[in-house]
Amino acid sequence: MLSYRHSFHAGNFADVLKHLVLIKILEHLCKKEKPFCCIDTHAGPGDYRLNSEFALKNKEFNNGIARLWQQDNLPSSVEAYVNIIKSFNADNTLTRYPGSPLIIKHFLRNQDHLFLHELHSTEINLLNTAIGNDKRIKVAHTDGLHNAISLLPPIQHRGMVLIDPSYEIKSDYQQVVTSLSLMHKRFPLGTYALWYPVVDRSRNQHLERAIKDSGLKNVQLFELGIIADTQEHGMTASGMIVVNPPWTLSTDMQQTLPWLSKHLGLNGAGHYRIETLVSE
Ligand SMILES: C[S@@+](CC[C@H](N)C(=O)[O-])C[C@H]1O[C@@H](n2cnc3c(N)ncnc32)[C@H](O)[C@@H]1O
Repeated sequence: MLSYRHSFHAGNFADVLKHLVLIKILEHLCKKEKPFCCIDTHAGPGDYRLNSEFALKNKEFNNGIARLWQQDNLPSSVEAYVNIIKSFNADNTLTRYPGSPLIIKHFLRNQDHLFLHELHSTEINLLNTAIGNDKRIKVAHTDGLHNAISLLPPIQHRGMVLIDPSYEIKSDYQQVVTSLSLMHKRFPLGTYALWYPVVDRSRNQHLERAIKDSGLKNVQLFELGIIADTQEHGMTASGMIVVNPPWTLSTDMQQTLPWLSKHLGLNGAGHYRIETLVSE
């Protein structure tokens, strides 16, 4: 049974990196008029209230979006991300945080399509409400890792898949690589963005090794940490592994991640990684 609720974590430092990278990929897809297809395998409820009891429990957004909200002189990618979050909030007051479904919807043009998946019985209802009636978007109460494979290749032959599991089960670390490889076999030209947490670094080392051994090519990794790795409970860092990234992404992240690690890192302990896991 699924117990994870992203509402406790909305807008935290991990969402900042995840959604910033997502936005860079979507901006790139929008550069051409040709339609694209987007698949979100783990959509969540779509829309978050930062004044809800969930978000206020640990106020994780305070060390994420809220810290960037009033800052001047943001690096351009951070500014673009903050401006999109601002477009969901009236009067420059941060009360609402859009999840990946609403961020992707923000970029959809008439010709584009989006497939959303969510398994949790409460979250799926919230997601349907957040999305409303939109002919470009299909919402499915089903396993996104499994269903995404059957949706590929998309008829548009352009697009991306966002894979954002909660890693509630340890086997998720292996499962995502198996599913990613199967998706990539069906649609080798697609862009794939896989989010990961750093809770126990050895699991990440296995994940990276599995990606390297999978036969995937052109894979980059972008990671943002706010404290040094620790054996104690909790997420110290998180990252995005991107297959077939836009060619400008790595340069963008060179300008973005040092700044984010300085501004979101706790007591000067912020850190980041930008690595090519597998070359082209
Ligand atoms: C980290 S949250 C998603 C957050 C969302 N992508 C965002 O950025 O706003 C992960 C979600 O995946 C859902 N989930 C877990 N396993 C799933 C699966 N196999 N297929 C679809 N949804 C799943 C969980 O219920 C949870 O709501």
